[in-house]
Amino acid sequence: MEEQAKKKVMLSGIQPSGDLHLGNYLGAIKNWSARAEEFDCYYFMADLHTITVRQNPADLRRRTLEQLAQYIACGLDPKKNTLFIQSHVPEHTQLGWVLNCYTMFGELSRMTQFKDKSAKHKDNINGGLFTYPALMAADILLYQPDYVPVGEDQKQHVELTRNIVQRFNGIYGDVFKMPEPYIPKAGARVMGLTAPDSKMSKSIPEGCVFLMEKPEDIQRKFKRAVTDSDTERCVRYDLEHKPGVANLMSIYSAVTGRSYEEIEREFDGQGYGAFKPAVGDAVIETLRPIREEAERILKDKAYLEQVYRAGAEKASYVAGKTLRKVYKKVGFVAL
Ligand code: TRP
Repeated sequence: MEEQAKKKVMLSGIQPSGDLHLGNYLGAIKNWSARAEEFDCYYFMADLHTITVRQNPADLRRRTLEQLAQYIACGLDPKKNTLFIQSHVPEHTQLGWVLNCYTMFGELSRMTQFKDKSAKHKDNINGGLFTYPALMAADILLYQPDYVPVGEDQKQHVELTRNIVQRFNGIYGDVFKMPEPYIPKAGARVMGLTAPDSKMSKSIPEGCVFLMEKPEDIQRKFKRAVTDSDTERCVRYDLEHKPGVANLMSIYSAVTGRSYEEIEREFDGQGYGAFKPAVGDAVIETLRPIREEAERILKDKAYLEQVYRAGAEKASYVAGKTLRKVYKKVGFVAL
């Protein structure tokens, strides 16, 4: 306990709006399990955030639980990490409201994600989509984290959170700890199998390998992966001229631990016809235990419930302390 209190705190939220894929796994999740030794980690399913865009209720519920099961199957141990569902911890919406009043219209108007999403969903530019960064600031600040691991696309929201901290602490004293964005050390950057010039994404399903996908579907996608029209058809790492092959080599390296030189030697003189299915097989074998474990966990409803209940309880305890401090500072009468 003593030791845990000294660990630095890390927190991240994940929107349960899509199925996890190989890019999520190799680029991020795979490295998370080791982090728990060094940090006190909080991960939550950001379900409150997903409804800024219309969701099918049954799908949202299913995906939230599926994602939780998949994270555990990827090695995130619920005993060592606090895993919870955002809507189970009411302090998020409570602090979210308060922070809305300390976030400027002008700041929110400059958020590129708001501009992108409102261009994409012209028929539903709702208030939540606009004020979402204030809720995200609340998600973060409730736990007083040192670090917030996020992708490039979320850095602007963490910067805004830092501005809110400065504004709020400037008025009320040291209430919130200043969080830092945390850019994880090199995870593999996985590109799409059909278009190796952009990141693997669920929006191009043919180039995207999902964690829960059947082996034969995974193999089909690798066999159809774009390589190049190079006549030598040789497995050689050349990111500029052979981005498709480089991507497959990077995936193969990440799942087998082999270096690029070892891979070049392994497929010397064999061409892409042998290489592509070998990458497929290696990925299938890496994902198999994850998929089987996730399926097993999903069937064990009592276990899943126990995990998210314990997570919500722990989260709410920590979040409640921060919220009470904030309520007192702004002048609400304590109950
Ligand atoms: N906005 C993040 C996303 O879309 C998810 C998120 C919500 C989050 N709250 C957070 C991430 C707090 C980090 C910290 O991906």
